[in-house]
Amino acid sequence: MQKISVKGGKPLKGEVIVGGSKNATLPVMTAALLADSPCSIQNVPHLNDIKTMTQVLGKLGAKAELKDHKLSIDPAKFDKFEAPYELVKTMRASIYSLGACLARLGEAKVSLPGGCAIGARPIDLHLKGVEALGAKVTIEHGYVHAKASKLKGTTILLAGPHGPSLGATVNVLMAATAAEGTTVIESASIEPEVTELVDFLNAMGASIEGRGTPRLVIHGGKRLKGIEYSVLPDRIEAGTFMIAAAITRGDVTLKGAEISHLTAVSEKLRQIGVLVEESDGGLRVRSAGDYRPADVWILPYPGFPTDMQAQIMALLATVPGVSVITETIWENRFMHVFEMNRMGADIAIDRSHAVVKGVPKLTGAPVMASDLRASAALILAGLVAEGETLVQRVYHLDRGYERIEQKLSALGAEIKRLD
Ligand code: EPZ
Repeated sequence: MQKISVKGGKPLKGEVIVGGSKNATLPVMTAALLADSPCSIQNVPHLNDIKTMTQVLGKLGAKAELKDHKLSIDPAKFDKFEAPYELVKTMRASIYSLGACLARLGEAKVSLPGGCAIGARPIDLHLKGVEALGAKVTIEHGYVHAKASKLKGTTILLAGPHGPSLGATVNVLMAATAAEGTTVIESASIEPEVTELVDFLNAMGASIEGRGTPRLVIHGGKRLKGIEYSVLPDRIEAGTFMIAAAITRGDVTLKGAEISHLTAVSEKLRQIGVLVEESDGGLRVRSAGDYRPADVWILPYPGFPTDMQAQIMALLATVPGVSVITETIWENRFMHVFEMNRMGADIAIDRSHAVVKGVPKLTGAPVMASDLRASAALILAGLVAEGETLVQRVYHLDRGYERIEQKLSALGAEIKRLD
């Protein structure tokens, strides 16, 4: 199994180009199934999750091919409705086939995702949404089976105990484009990846009002056609490089970052004492003087993103004083704490709070990544740790970061992949 070796101590300097967003590409890929002709999607990152979604589309009969960063999707032979366990267990976003299959084929059979390293990951809101549109849902042998001879528009409240759900909003949006009449989603997720899906569907010919707001109004039954589209930059990859610059006391310019999607991260970094400035076509992040501890509340967008929680923890672990991070989205997303503590960090967990006491230095160690963002955080910690950090289970990282070791090494980091 591959590992990443990082030797800490080099301040990162230079420019890095932010790639296309994984979490925006995945919904767009399934939405392309709703078109009556092929779609061509640009700026698609080369990641394992994108490969897995390509396989999901293949299982449904569609053709998807990624060359360079351009993905062609031909839905002409999309006539199957089952997303099998082997694919759903490697990537939960396979659940998006529920909305797409219901919309186009009136039937969907998707393996139940179950829990994972970051929490329980229920899909009750997805099911509530498609049932409200008229689908009959049964759960048998580990699969969700949904059927609807006709979907009918209605008003659906998608609020859950932890706020809105990105995934449920994606599924209901897709199903609602095929419903008769008007569907109103209240408490829709306003994460940029949902807004991207709204833009994509509207460009295909859908009629969705309220982009970027928690109230989406979908006038169903429009003919959707294949289009050319370019996916937005990945705000979590960008945020991870911002922290890489900050933690190494470096000076990095992120080219192509969408600044408006990074407000919470930029504001928190500024509070800590990091200089974050808009620069020509991007964002410049550099250190100037001492850092201060901070309290970080993880909240739905536009709050500080859960997908950046582990990374900001790596930074705060090196900042003198006591910081508190409160995770409100995923109840079990602190697995990286134990590995960071093995590198000399001083972090204690009390239910949803992590109390981070900054230490003067971290030391390199062999560490085990538990999920995608935890892997990135361990690499960030490794960038400033004394000696070598060996990050194992790199397959988590390859789900969401394209060539991260090459990008970091181009900025001056001592990092390499070992077979
Ligand atoms: C998306 O997951 C992202 N994944 C996650 O990123 C991200 O952490 C999450 O949104 C929150 O921003 C993708 O885009 C592929 P949710 P999703 O439904 O859609 C609860 C990464 O690292 N909930 O918005 O699965 C749920 O338990 C990944 O790239 C219900 O209660 O997240 C959570 O507390 C990890 N019932 C909250 O809502 C439901 O039916 C938000 O989950 C669905 C969700």
